[in-house]
Parts: sequence; structure tokens; C-alpha cells
Amino acid sequence: MAKKIINEPSRTLMEYRLLPGLTTAENSPAEISLRTPLVYTPQQDKKFFLNIPLVSAAMQSVSSDRMGIELAKLGGVAFIYSSQSIEAQIGMIEKIKQHKAGFVNPKAVKPEMTIQDMYLIRHETGHSTFPVVDDTGIFLGLISKWDYDISLHGSFMVKDRMIPKKNIEVGVKITDLKEANRILLESHKSILPILDETGKLLHIVFRKDINDQLNNPLEVHDEKKRLLAVASINTHDYKERVSALATAEVDVLSIDSSDGFTEYQKETIEWIRKNYPQIPVIGGNIITQDGFRYLVEAGAGAVKVGMGGGSICITQEQKGTGRGLATTVIDVVGARDKYFTETGKYIPVVADGGVTSTKDITIALALGADYVMMGRYFARMEESPTEKIVVNNRVMKPYWGEGSARARDWKNKRYNQSKFVEGVEGLVEYAGHLRDNLDETLAKIKSSMSTCGAKNLEEFHEKAVLELVSALSIREGKAHDIYQSTETNENSEDMKNDN
Ligand code: IMP
Repeated sequence: MAKKIINEPSRTLMEYRLLPGLTTAENSPAEISLRTPLVYTPQQDKKFFLNIPLVSAAMQSVSSDRMGIELAKLGGVAFIYSSQSIEAQIGMIEKIKQHKAGFVNPKAVKPEMTIQDMYLIRHETGHSTFPVVDDTGIFLGLISKWDYDISLHGSFMVKDRMIPKKNIEVGVKITDLKEANRILLESHKSILPILDETGKLLHIVFRKDINDQLNNPLEVHDEKKRLLAVASINTHDYKERVSALATAEVDVLSIDSSDGFTEYQKETIEWIRKNYPQIPVIGGNIITQDGFRYLVEAGAGAVKVGMGGGSICITQEQKGTGRGLATTVIDVVGARDKYFTETGKYIPVVADGGVTSTKDITIALALGADYVMMGRYFARMEESPTEKIVVNNRVMKPYWGEGSARARDWKNKRYNQSKFVEGVEGLVEYAGHLRDNLDETLAKIKSSMSTCGAKNLEEFHEKAVLELVSALSIREGKAHDIYQSTETNENSEDMKNDN
């Protein structure tokens, strides 16, 4: 006989709806804050917050440095995947930590390169302006598409056509974007190379980027004003990986596992708490109150919850383990609130896997989750690391699970441990730039919060009233019994392309 049999079915986020509370001017959408804690830290002076309750999943097809930079600028954070070599992961974390809004590091070319060769780089990178540097990195000039005609100058050298340094306004060791902007305006130039005191190129500032960059009020930073970076780790090579990540000044670590209720995870968390007490660690995934206690008592500062619900996940089918995400959140949030009452430590709960539309995010937050992790949503964005492909006239991007054969390939070589897969590989419809998609997603979340009378997520947790809905009522909630134009139909297919 099993230890316990629960005969109530577990519930998904799709099965709940919110009932309205009183909306006032104070909680109109424009007044709503989505700020939320990322991870608990005992140090009062070191608190980590997100300005939007969304993070991208630690997956090869989702979270590389490009996503990390863009999402941190917009208030969230990407969990940089660990299913890659330590060196490659460090490279990504360094790019995020070294990124200075508006200060870019475009590929530099050498003066003796032919224009023809540089033209190939132009097509590979999509950049049309290149700094020219010597072998030691000393800045010599700039070359842009206006400086040559490929049919006339293909065999010329870059140095024959570049604008030499003496004719260019440069900045020395400037780190403030407003100052760079001032110099650009006064010099009537559109590009400002920033050099160190020896003349080596550090960055370039493009006037066209500045307004965009000054316009990221939700950006999340460390205490040195650098973007926040979160790295995923595993329970195998963690000692080596965490020490390299600590050197790269990662802010937060997160253990990536489909089942976090394990001794390996406890050992990993305890080792990090002992050796790197300044770096908080997020544990998971767990789906029970016991799992929550176990990880938090080991020292986890936040927990990811969810098993079997991910869009690319076949864990339930393969192993028979898993739980609906709504029931998981309700259960674990209960344990979290109890733990808070006992200890005064507030441990954020992260709802992870299986979000199919914005209303799922909203329901997860209403049920008490502090933020939501998503893979599919972010895989569709321009900023995910995959290439776009066209299938049947639709622009798609590949998306694959971390437990799929494709992602596990690197591990097989290293650990030779995968006897079966827990994830699949597929395509998702390209959705454009993250910034535009988030605009709509966040507007919907705020609008629901406003309807429920909450001006921030803390209030949302306290005030939300949810109700289970029947299958018929879900059907009733969609457009029905009318003929719709194709365009409206496409917009209403939220599983496919919802924000
Ligand atoms: P999605 O947002 O529904 O696409 O789910 C993403 C989540 O699925 C990730 O954050 C992981 O928790 C989980 N996941 C990622 N890869 C796999 C896999 O291969 N098998 C099962 N779950 C996975």
C-alpha cells in the first residue's frame, strides 16, 4: 500500500479565475508596482529585487547573455543555463556584468584587413560601423558603410579608407552615459569611441542607442550599478563552477534540477553557504511542503516549484512524477508562509513551467508566487539565442528541453548518465522583440491586479480571491458562437502566441 493516496486531482493554473475587488485611483494600472523579491538574503545591506515578476528559464534555447542583458534592462532576469562548459557560462556572465547600458563593444577590425574581408564581417555581424585597432588594442580610427564602395574599394586596406583618429572626437574613461551624450551633442557627432588613458579602445557609444538606454527605469542592478546576473548550476561540477562564477561576480546562483528534493541538492546548497556565504542560492524544483522545508533548512534563499508542466516536458509521461502547478504553488506557498511566521524569513516562491498565457502568470502570482519562470514565452523572442527559420510561411524559432537528447548531449560526454530523455524538441512562433511583448504582458497583469484592488504584489497575495472554474465555463470565457475574421482568430489563439 502506498504511504498516501490523494484522491483530489491536482490543478493547473488554467483552472482558476479571479474575482474582482474594489478598484480605486490608488490601484489603477498606472500606479501599480510589480517589484518583487528575487531571493532571501540574511544581509540587510544586500537585498535582491526584480522590478517585474518574470524570469527566463535556464535553458540553452532561452537564456544566454543577450537575453540576460535585455531582460535585466527591463526589470527581470535571465537564469543563464549550466548545460554548457564552465568557460562558456562564465563568458556569458561576464558579458552581463560588464555590459554598460549604451556602451557597446562592437567587433574591431585591423588596419591591414582588406575592405572585402571586412565586408564579410559586416554581413556576419550585421554591424555597419567598425572601430579600427592595432594588435595591442590601440584605437586608430573608424570605418563605416559610408567610407567605401565595395565594387571600387574591395582590394583596398581598411587603413586606406577609415576616418583616422585625429579627425574623430573621443572620450577618455567616460563611464557616465549622460556625459557621453553631452559630448556627442556638442561635437555634432553620432559615434563616440571611449578610450583608456593609453589610447586603447574600451567601448563605443552610439547616439541612436542613448535615448533607449536612458529610458530603462526598471533596470535591475547590483550595488555597483551593473546589471544583475543569475547563473544556473548543477549538483555535479558545482565546486569548480561556483568558484569560477564567484570570480566572475555572479549575483545569485540557482540549482537546476527537475527534482530538487535530494541529498545532492542539500550538499550543494550547504557547500555554497559555507564557502560563498555572500552569494544567495535558489533551490528546486520541488512540489511539496516537505521539499520546501528540506531545501530552505539547507540554506536555499528561494525555491522554484513545478514538475512535469513545462511545454517541452515529458517527465510525467516518462516517470509518472509531477503535479499541477496551481496545486503546487498553493501547497508550497502555505509552507512558505508558515516558515515566515516561525522565522521571520521570507523565501520567494518561483512558479516554473507550463505557463501558457499571461493569465496563467497572473493566477500564479495571485496564488502567492513571487515571480514566474518561463521558457517557451522567452524562446519566441528575438533575444533568445536561436536562429529564426521559416516553416509554411510562418517565422519560427527552435525550442528544446534541457532534458531532451539535444541539450543532454554535452552532459553525456561528461557524465554519461542519461539513460532516457525527459524533454522534447520543437518550434515556437517568433514573437519579435522582448521589450514590445513585455509591454503588453505587463499591462495585462497590472490590469488584473487593478481589477482585484491591489497596488503591488504583496497586496495581490493578500487580496486575491480565486475560484475554480468548470470546463464549460472555460469554454464560455472564450469568444464563441460568432464568426470571426481570420485576423481576430489569430490574435485570440493565446497558446500559440500570447504575450
Ligand atoms: P515552459 O515555460 O512551459 O516552456 O517551461 C519551462 C520550464 O520547463 C523550465 O524552467 C524547466 O523547469 C522545465 N524544463 C526545461 N527543460 C525540461 C525538460 O527537458 N524536461 C522537463 N522539464 C523541463
